[in-house]
Amino acid sequence: MAYTEGMENLPDDYTILALETSCDETAAAVVRGGRTVLANVVASQMDMHQRYGGVVPEVASRQHILSLAPVLREALAALPEGWAGVHAIAATHGPGLSGALLTGLNAAKAIAWQRGLPFLGVNHLDAHIYANWLDVADPPQFPLVALVVSGGHTLLALLRGHGDYVLLGQTRDDAVGEAFDKVARILGLAYPGGPAIEQAARGAQPAGVLPRAWLRDSYDFSFSGLKTAVLHKAQERQEQAARVAPSRGRRPDAAGKRPAEPEQPAAPARPLDAQFVGQMAHAFQESVVDVLTAKAVEAAREHGAREILLAGGVAANGRLREELARRADVPVRFPPLALCTDNAAMVAAAAFFRFASGRQSGWELDVTPNLRLGT
Ligand code: KG4
Ligand code: ZN
Repeated sequence: MAYTEGMENLPDDYTILALETSCDETAAAVVRGGRTVLANVVASQMDMHQRYGGVVPEVASRQHILSLAPVLREALAALPEGWAGVHAIAATHGPGLSGALLTGLNAAKAIAWQRGLPFLGVNHLDAHIYANWLDVADPPQFPLVALVVSGGHTLLALLRGHGDYVLLGQTRDDAVGEAFDKVARILGLAYPGGPAIEQAARGAQPAGVLPRAWLRDSYDFSFSGLKTAVLHKAQERQEQAARVAPSRGRRPDAAGKRPAEPEQPAAPARPLDAQFVGQMAHAFQESVVDVLTAKAVEAAREHGAREILLAGGVAANGRLREELARRADVPVRFPPLALCTDNAAMVAAAAFFRFASGRQSGWELDVTPNLRLGT
């Protein structure tokens, strides 16, 4: 098998069952040969967290406990021979929410222990990158540059081979998905913010640009200044709107004096108008896409990458995909939408290449909420 050259020769039908519970998706998948997805089941908790405008860790952990067994059962149903067709078990052990990670990791360990199967803890960031190996005719070619953009992470890495990573840059403050989510909240759009902003930007009449944090001579990123710029513009817009349509306080009486009553409270923050929201969403997205694209293209040039891989939830963004493909000198790959956001098939793919290089985890493996790429 060319794609595991120099590694232990795992059989073509080596089948891994993987679990992913690092955040707000409970997922189980069965993947054959590191690349063929036989089952990919995801139970999203999005609706539950939507009302809070973000993920509530305690709620997420409890929901994983409820969803794990049905999700697992559904994934396993893809194998006619059932458990007998599973050769190894994997689960995400970081980065992510500790309580959430524990649910999947412990379930995976229990299964592996009970069935006497090899077990491996997988790095979630690694897994996002390996989504690019799933269901493709030609696997990615090293060396390559990976741009990982998710709700919790933003980083650029050089991959010289399986498991051989060099971190080139990362965010110094907000992750890009986090910035999408926060800006959506400022604009009164739904959670998760990424798809909501992309949609609002689509029909907008562009007006003005927002700042870009270039952080010259570095592959690092920064998005918190951009988020603050949107916040200030939104506040200005609301003040303007309040001046045009003044408060509903009592009018002065005929003699020009206000009645002797307690002052009316300040007019409540009113929803921003759709035109402004569209323009802000558009300008924000363009700013983010410009910086991400420029740095990924430059990194690929500097390191002679043969490909650029896009990974993580924000890789679902159509504008980012389009712009990166337009500006890059080398082919740009991105996973299909369903494999960009959190899923367990990507965990199984990453696990396959680790197992192939002889790696396994011990029963003592703990969760690591701040696990870094390449560890
Ligand atoms: O990778 P992911 O599913 O979870 C983490 O590991 O964080 O990423 C979720 C993030 C959220 O912040 C969400 O707003 C963002 O991905 N996202 C998008 C889009 N779809 C999801 N951001 C921009 N454009 C999108 N279409
Ligand atoms: Zn993720």
